[in-house]
Amino acid sequence: MAVATRKLVSDYNCFYSINFKKHSHLKLMEFTDSFSNKNLSIGNNDIDDDHTKLIEIINDLNDLIQTRGTREDFARILSLMTDYSLTHFRQEELYMQEFDYPKFNVHKKSHLEYIYKVSNYNLDLAKKNPPEPQEIVDFLRTWWQNHILMLDAAYEKYRKQANIEATYRKISRLK
Ligand SMILES: [Fe+2]
Repeated sequence: MAVATRKLVSDYNCFYSINFKKHSHLKLMEFTDSFSNKNLSIGNNDIDDDHTKLIEIINDLNDLIQTRGTREDFARILSLMTDYSLTHFRQEELYMQEFDYPKFNVHKKSHLEYIYKVSNYNLDLAKKNPPEPQEIVDFLRTWWQNHILMLDAAYEKYRKQANIEATYRKISRLK
């Protein structure tokens, strides 16, 4: 199990019973330091760290599918990820407000749409005809990749060009 997920689970005092066997398949998403089209760094270490954790959790969800883990475990990790995402979004929004980011509302709307979509996935997983976990992982991968590369990178670029100092602050026990 990736460190990020283990930390989330211990934060919530959940017992995590799935045996995460790492397979040799290619990782679903990579967070690289080198410049490439896979590079999801926005040039801010604290924010990159949060994104790295989120990507690790997506990879864990993908591993869970490969190792045929239970739907309940998948739903539990997805729920923890939603909590982590909410904290991350709040921190990002406070950060953007610190330098009066002009596209703040558009960005916040994107966060809200994500929370709405993933919360519904979580609810639907408990229903009779649940969505396929692979569909959810594919959504997460695409959403985070697009969001980081397009919207997150844009606020950091704006801040740097405007030459305004701001600090991305941790606001909860989920660090
Ligand atoms: Fe964001």
